[in-house]
Amino acid sequence: MQTNSDHRLHVAIIMDGNGRWAESRGMPRAAGHQVGADSVRAIVSAAIEHNIGALTLYAFSTYNWQRPSPEVAGLMSLLRHFLLVEAPELQRNGVRISVLGRRDRVPLGLARAITAAERATVAGTRLHLRIAIDYSARDAILAAASDGLTAEAIAERLGTEDVDFLIRTGGDQRLSDFLLWECAQAELYFTPVQWPDFGPTEFDTALADFAHRTRSFGAIPA
Ligand code: FPP
Repeated sequence: MQTNSDHRLHVAIIMDGNGRWAESRGMPRAAGHQVGADSVRAIVSAAIEHNIGALTLYAFSTYNWQRPSPEVAGLMSLLRHFLLVEAPELQRNGVRISVLGRRDRVPLGLARAITAAERATVAGTRLHLRIAIDYSARDAILAAASDGLTAEAIAERLGTEDVDFLIRTGGDQRLSDFLLWECAQAELYFTPVQWPDFGPTEFDTALADFAHRTRSFGAIPA
């Protein structure tokens, strides 16, 4: 399915279910994250094919620091590796990479990889890939807010656009402090499929579902 229109979609994904995917196969949770990174590659390519404007992925929430330190270290290393290895190819494909969230608590190697990937891909216009790392929507709103601000100014300070379509894999039906402001009018899609099994076919199914939604934004649908 091609999603062509003047407005290029912003799709956000809560990539849940890596740990359960691995545990159900008798594998360490880290293996689920590894295969999850393969899903990320496939979905980024699919998003380009669908002419999606922006794709925001929830890779690590502020709450994830509470996980055992080897899992946290593994995720930090996986993210660093992804940015270092994938950025040149993404740059060639016209993808701009931005990272949302705090930069001051991640390992220095990851912080450097983030800066390098953002700089190298800044001119990309085909897809804006936003990766949320050490991210909390409440923290982002608090940081953006001050007295007398307009909604537009807060949106600008948050640095992301309104989400059109939010996908959550893994079966849970909650937002988990992800893009709370930006999802004000988002269509939500929950699937029991675990993130490592979520490929271009499942993405197509989700986008086809979105294409049938009527978006009235509180008005009477035309
Ligand atoms: C949630 O699954 C997923 C995460 C906390 C990490 C997401 C990270 C990736 C998909 C890897 C790479 C990402 C990028 C952007 C390259 P979970 O561990 O909470 O699974 P569970 O709910 O089954 O325990």
